[in-house]
Amino acid sequence: MTLLSVRDLTVKFATRNEPVTALHGISFDIAQGERVGVVGESGAGKSITGFALMNLLSKPGFIDSGQILFEGQDVTQMSDRAVRKLRGNRMAMIFQDPMVTLNPVLTIGQQMIETLRAHRRLSYDEARQIALVKLKGVYIPSPEERLDQYPHELSGGMRQRIVIAIALLLDPQLIIAD
Ligand SMILES: Nc1ncnc2c1ncn2[C@@H]1O[C@H](COP(=O)(O)OP(=O)(O)O)[C@@H](O)[C@H]1O
Ligand SMILES: [Mg+2]
Repeated sequence: MTLLSVRDLTVKFATRNEPVTALHGISFDIAQGERVGVVGESGAGKSITGFALMNLLSKPGFIDSGQILFEGQDVTQMSDRAVRKLRGNRMAMIFQDPMVTLNPVLTIGQQMIETLRAHRRLSYDEARQIALVKLKGVYIPSPEERLDQYPHELSGGMRQRIVIAIALLLDPQLIIAD
């Protein structure tokens, strides 16, 4: 079954003059369970593609035309509220820079538990249990201790794995790894 269908997606950046086209009408499909790699030189538009799929393009970037059908619904036409519900829950993005995802003033556990409880009806203890399972899933040593640490107490590689664990928290259908 097709999970994601991108049709003629064009992304532009507004400038003082003519908008600049970053993505020129790209189309591709991803089936359930399929892994798709996107290859291209730096500046080719890989990250912009991911941001567009998550409806996370920030100004001056905008979707100029095209469709992003996720589970049959066009993400480009959804309300902000509907997209927020989808994000993290049905589709998640692993950002290149872990500090984009991690909040420096909250412990790893607080961030994971908060994310889980924002989307699911879970007690604090239930959420903590799931967070622990996800940390184990990315082979984090001493996961219990990590839950009480702040991002700055961890190495870069460890932070990257935490970010992956956070993306996997809600068992999304689609994971975009930038
Ligand atoms: N803030 C911006 N303003 C104008 N153009 C931008 C901006 N961010 C990205 N772009 C354009 O989008 C293109 C694709 O960028 P990106 O998706 O980050 O490439 P990469 O394939 O390296 O991930 C860049 O080459 C640039 O032309
Ligand atoms: Mg990139």
